[in-house]
Amino acid sequence: MKVDVLLGLQWGDEGKGKIVDVLASRYDIIARFQGGPNAGHTIEFDGLKFVLHTIPSGIFAASRLNIVGNGVVIDPYIFSKEVAQLRSKNINPHHNLLISKKAHLILPTHRLLDAVYENTMGENRIGSTLKGIGPAYTDKTARQGIRVGEIHKDDFSSQYRILKEKHHRIIDSYNAGVANIKIDGLDFDSYEKQWLDAIELLKTYHQIDSEHFINSSLRTGKRILAEGAQGTLLDIEFGAYPFVTSSNTIAAGVCSGLGIAPSKVGRVYGTFKAYCTRVGSGPFPTELHDEAGALMRDRGHEYGSTTGRPRRCGWLDLTALKYAIMLNGVTDLVMTKGDVLDAFEQIQVATHYKLNDETIDHLPFEADQVKPLYESIKGWKQSLEEITSQDEFPAAFADYISFIQTHTQTPVNIVSVGPDRRQTIVLL
Ligand code: IMP
Repeated sequence: MKVDVLLGLQWGDEGKGKIVDVLASRYDIIARFQGGPNAGHTIEFDGLKFVLHTIPSGIFAASRLNIVGNGVVIDPYIFSKEVAQLRSKNINPHHNLLISKKAHLILPTHRLLDAVYENTMGENRIGSTLKGIGPAYTDKTARQGIRVGEIHKDDFSSQYRILKEKHHRIIDSYNAGVANIKIDGLDFDSYEKQWLDAIELLKTYHQIDSEHFINSSLRTGKRILAEGAQGTLLDIEFGAYPFVTSSNTIAAGVCSGLGIAPSKVGRVYGTFKAYCTRVGSGPFPTELHDEAGALMRDRGHEYGSTTGRPRRCGWLDLTALKYAIMLNGVTDLVMTKGDVLDAFEQIQVATHYKLNDETIDHLPFEADQVKPLYESIKGWKQSLEEITSQDEFPAAFADYISFIQTHTQTPVNIVSVGPDRRQTIVLL
């Protein structure tokens, strides 16, 4: 058996959580391999809505195992809130959630550091979700982080204290004054207390050597889906650095974030919106600052599920999409939120860029300097929300999908036309 992967091809928020939830019945195990609570995966069914930040989107079926892999960074406080959200709807993640002992912890002071760095960067700020992601991965690569497996050890408190003191020395060097910085609305001491309580909760969850578990599950024929977070264009290597997140969001991240060999990667489902959005700063070639962008934001409810920030909106960018398909080896495209474009007479799609005076068809290093070149496509001007099969696609919507397939040379095999599980047409 191989591990299939589902990930985002744009700047995150492509609707991955919903698609993982739809595909989950085909898998025995769903595993997160990177990122942390900067993610907000929204899942809606039976009139209920959940936003998951750390816990994989397969948690809703008790028979399915969910793994938080070694590549993930976990904030116990946010994790405890997710657990409470699930338990309030009678879903008990104790039964089917496993956590890698090698996953790293996000400390309260990682969140302070994130805030201090962003506050001091002025115009160059990344637009971070301020969940402590960058500082936690920094400590991981600096070999100073604390892993989940440490929380049971006698010296955990002293490990925590040493790292916290190091962070305070850095913060002091910025003369930033952290007294006024609130974390999730709490002052530092109150937040830290709740964080330490949440460590006790985390201790009650099953912790494993997930790389062994995953490889032996593959040997015994278990079907595994790796669930990506953020998106390809936020990848630490290939996004428009420094306006990126701090992990490998691409398919390569599955190997290091779960401990599987490249030869064990199977299908790669690449999810993209029928248009583009981005939160935070950084290049966005097809961004719209006009009424069309506002209409997309309004119809698509384009406000961050983790931060509530309005998302920047723009037309679909096939040049960037082809880049993402190349980096990930996408086998199946998944298009979401086609219904948001129902209102448009004409839809623009960027197929090339102008860089200086040259026309190019790839996303270059100079991503901040390219100008998109568009083709105009007729809109379908009717609601897609009730569609349940491919036969019901309006002709112009089918043409839009064919246009994308032709340009990317990759099949669109799943189409989502609304937030509910039922509003998904799976063509395979
Ligand atoms: P960080 O990972 O929170 O430090 O944020 C770095 C950049 O990635 C910022 O532009 C964020 O807005 C963006 N980002 C991080 N996580 C997500 C996500 O799950 N969806 C969309 N954008 C994200």
